[in-house]
Amino acid sequence: MSNLINEIQRRRTFAIISHPDAGKTTLTEKLLLFGGAIHVAGAVKSNKIRKSATSDWMEIEKQRGISVATSVMGFDYENYRINILDTPGHKDFAEDTYRTLTAVDSVIIVVDIAKGVEEQTRKLTEVCRMRKTPVMIFVNKMDRDGADPFDLLDELEQELKINVCPTSWPIGMGRHFKGVYNIYEEKLDLYAPGKQLITESVRFNNINSPELEKNLGEHEAEKLRTDLELIEGIYPALKTTNTTKELHRYLCGDLAPVFFGSALNNFGVKELLDCFIRIAPSPKPVQAVERTVIPNVDPFSGFIFKMHANMDPNHRSCIAFLKICSGKFERSAGYRHIRLDKTMKFNQATAFMAQKKETVDEAFAGDIIGLPDTGNFKIGDTITAGETLHFKGLPSFSPETFKYIENADPMKAKQLAKGIEQLMDEGVAQLFKNLHSGRKIIGTVGQLQFEVIHYRLLHEYGANCRWEPLNLYKACWIESDSEKALENFKKRKYQYIAKDREGRDMFLAESSHILRMAQQDFEEIKFHFTSEF
Ligand code: G4P
Repeated sequence: MSNLINEIQRRRTFAIISHPDAGKTTLTEKLLLFGGAIHVAGAVKSNKIRKSATSDWMEIEKQRGISVATSVMGFDYENYRINILDTPGHKDFAEDTYRTLTAVDSVIIVVDIAKGVEEQTRKLTEVCRMRKTPVMIFVNKMDRDGADPFDLLDELEQELKINVCPTSWPIGMGRHFKGVYNIYEEKLDLYAPGKQLITESVRFNNINSPELEKNLGEHEAEKLRTDLELIEGIYPALKTTNTTKELHRYLCGDLAPVFFGSALNNFGVKELLDCFIRIAPSPKPVQAVERTVIPNVDPFSGFIFKMHANMDPNHRSCIAFLKICSGKFERSAGYRHIRLDKTMKFNQATAFMAQKKETVDEAFAGDIIGLPDTGNFKIGDTITAGETLHFKGLPSFSPETFKYIENADPMKAKQLAKGIEQLMDEGVAQLFKNLHSGRKIIGTVGQLQFEVIHYRLLHEYGANCRWEPLNLYKACWIESDSEKALENFKKRKYQYIAKDREGRDMFLAESSHILRMAQQDFEEIKFHFTSEF
């Protein structure tokens, strides 16, 4: 196998998503421990933005500073190169997470056994479903009491709208948690509480062996056998020995293997990782407008999916995160920035390997590299070795909070316009223009972004803005096969029609009821909740 193909096939690029507090940071840390990327627990700072800090976003930015360092964590494990993409926990940064999901090949979802499926998990899984991203689920905190595992599987299927197959099965929980039966590898993993303990395993070729009683006691052994029988009757089985059909369903995003464990106690994490490296996809083909781009075929190409600005006004700089879609990146080579039609060299590209920031000499499809930026990039930009390509698949999502933005300093109108344009390029929020009033509307997924925009306009662009309230439920993209129907709709709803920055039509719905009525009354109009349709 050529070096290029080999390098790309051994890559696993994924994100861990969860509702805040389910254990994403703890799981990430334990995965890094297995990869030898860190040596002691506690080395990964939580980039979690504490709920109490929402009123003080400078504090949040300080914490977000940490998230630049942990944006991508690479490490080697058993000949695989693992790239974990971090996702901000705070819901006001959900748009950031959505975009990160466009740069991964698979996802691990962490669910707290006591809390079940929570709001953020539901929303983020929806994005995975839309993109048919393969997902695995890690049910965490089995050392605590929580839902009955069968009930939880039902909840996962219903709430996340995905089929599940248990790949491990818990024996007791909370104070009575004894371990899991690893269905995937057909072995019994016994639990020993304690932060740094690696799982103790007993291999079972036959679940009816009296060895099970010896390890678990009569009652638990019997219950486990009954549970496993039930599981076999209800759920598809994903095992090391028999995987073709189920594996295919997993890879299509139709079937989610479920592991149970306790990240804090390092229990079930290695098993998750061992299964993950075997079944998770290596970099997948990426669709560009012009053609499908195959990862292990030269030449190099990639796109910017995330920007992170440095908030310190003395060091105004930005890192643009590039996902490599095909081929090999080389430090000394010149690459073409398609939108600007400009050749650029990236001598200072960085990556985080084993927690250390390093200058990148070479990188391969599947890798993420950070490019220092001084205003050349915006989200969605494509970089290639020369070919004209435009990658698709960086959707904007219907924002949920809105305000009119007004100029608060008439002398600085130019600065304000420039600031707004650049912040929108970075993907901080979305800008619309109401066709009726001509007023500019900023739409975001959370309140925090308004503070961010106000602060940055003031400190980076010397412009001042004023927010005016706007009560909207959702802004959605509209289109129709019938030009006449679209014109008619726009005429009837003229006060509520806006254009986005690309000039596409949008409907500003004041309430869910109004939106539903519009959908009912105007059958020929298609209402889209992401910008990609
Ligand atoms: P997040 O990134 O998803 O927001 O969650 P994080 O890992 O920070 O975990 C949230 C809390 O849950 C932490 O406690 C963490 O120690 C705890 N936790 C994670 N995994 C387990 C587990 O398997 N069992 C139990 N019992 N707890 C777990 P905290 O008190 O909020 O933070 P800390 O002071 O321990 O850092």
